[in-house]
Amino acid sequence: MDRMIIRGGSRIEGSVQVCGAKNAALPQIAAALLSAERLELGNVPEVSDIDTMLLLMRELGVAANRAPGHRLVLDAGGARNTQAPYDIVRKMRASILVLAPLLARFGSARVSQPGGCAIGARPIDLHLKALEALGAQVDMEAGYIHARTSGDGLRGGRIVLSSPSVGASETALMAAVLARGESEILNAGRDPEISDLAACLVAMGARIEGAGTHRMLVQGVQALHQARHDLITDRIEAGSYAIAAAITGGHLEILGAHLEHLGSVGAALESAGVQIWPTDRGLMVVRSGPLQAIDISTEPYPGFPTDLQAQFMALMTIARGASVIRETVFESRFMHVPELGRLGANISLQGSTALVRGVDGLRAAEVMATDLRASVCLVLAALAAEGETTVHRIYHLDRGYELLDRKLVQCGANIQRVAG
Ligand code: UD1
Repeated sequence: MDRMIIRGGSRIEGSVQVCGAKNAALPQIAAALLSAERLELGNVPEVSDIDTMLLLMRELGVAANRAPGHRLVLDAGGARNTQAPYDIVRKMRASILVLAPLLARFGSARVSQPGGCAIGARPIDLHLKALEALGAQVDMEAGYIHARTSGDGLRGGRIVLSSPSVGASETALMAAVLARGESEILNAGRDPEISDLAACLVAMGARIEGAGTHRMLVQGVQALHQARHDLITDRIEAGSYAIAAAITGGHLEILGAHLEHLGSVGAALESAGVQIWPTDRGLMVVRSGPLQAIDISTEPYPGFPTDLQAQFMALMTIARGASVIRETVFESRFMHVPELGRLGANISLQGSTALVRGVDGLRAAEVMATDLRASVCLVLAALAAEGETTVHRIYHLDRGYELLDRKLVQCGANIQRVAG
C-alpha cells in the first residue's frame, strides 16, 4: 500500500489549481442513465471514486469513456441492466445515486443496500421515502433495494425531506424530472453540488426551479436529450488547500475556487487569523500572524461542511487557546483524533464534541489514514510538524484528491510518495 513521507516546516506558497468537484461529478454521472442520448461532462476530476462510479455505469450497460482534458462522455442509449451489484456498491456509498435514474427511466431497479461505513451508519431512508412519495414501491430483498413503479411510471408528488440530505435531494431531483406532472421537494439541501446537478439536468431538458433553495419545483418531462455540462470546482479541495496555506503560515492563490461555495468556512478562517479574499482567478489565502482558536459546528450548507471538519481540526491543533469542534452531520467522524494525537496534538473527545487545546508545535510520527477527509487532515498536520511524518494507507486520499502530493510539492512542500 502506498504511503507518503512528509517533511514538515515548509511554507505552502504560490498557486494551485483546483479540480472539478467529485461530489458534483458522481450524481451527474448517474444522471446520464436518465436519457438515451449522450451526456458530455467537463472538468471531471481523475480520482478513484469516479473510476468506481464508471465501473458501475459500465456494469449497467452505459458506454462511459474519459476524453482528454478532464472530459467524460457517457451514453446510456444501450443501458439495459437495472441491477447495481454488491461488489461495486460496497466500495462506494454514492452508488445509491443510480437508484432514482434507473427507476425513473426503466420503471424498476435493484441496488445493493449500502452498508455502514467508517463515519457511521449512514442510512438511506430519505432516498427511499422520496421515491415512495412519487409512487414507487420499495422492498428489501436479500440485501437489495428493489424499487418499481406501477405500469405508467413515477408520478409527480410532494417530497418533504426530514433533513436536507445531499444525496436524498439529488435522488428526489433525478426521480422527479421524468415523473408525470409537478413535484415539489421541500427542505432540500442548498449545496452547490445539488444546484450543479440541477443545471446539468436543465441542460438535458429538465424543468427545475428553485435549485439552491430549500424548495425545488420540478415539472416532469417525457424524455431528456443530449447535453454538455462543465462541473463546478471542488470546494472541499479548495478548502483543504486554504488550510494547507494557513497551517504553514503561507501565502497561496487557489485558482478556480469560489469563496461563496465555501459557505461559512471563509468567516471561520478569518476569525482564526487567516486572511482570505477573492481574486480574478480564485481565492487568495494568507497567514502572517498567529492562529487563534475558534469554535465550529458542522452544519448543512452553507454552514461549516463536515467534509472540512478534520482539516480544520488539524489547523486548530496549533492555534492559541482552545477550540470546541462539534460534529452534527455524521455520528462518528473523529477517527483522525487519535492519529493527530500521535503527532502531538492535545484533543479530548466527548460524544460528538472535540476539545482541541492548541500546542506550541506538532512533531512527526507514523500515522494511518482511515477515510478520505481524515487522511488529508493528517497530510496537513504533517506539513506543520517538525520532522518526517509517514502517512500510511493513502489510497483513501486518491478517492477524492487528484495529484495532492504533486500539487503541494509545487507549492513548496517536501513530500515523497512511496509505492508498496
Ligand atoms: C454527501 C457527500 C459527503 C458529505 C455529505 C454531507 C457526496 C457523494 N457525498 O454525502 O462527502 O460528507 O454529503 O455534506 O456528495 N441521512 C439519513 N437518511 C438518508 C440520507 C442521509 O439519515 O436517507 C443522514 C446521514 O446519515 C447524515 C446526514 O443525513 O447524518 C447527511 O447525509 P447526506 O447529506 O445524505 O450525505 P451524503 O449525500 O451521503
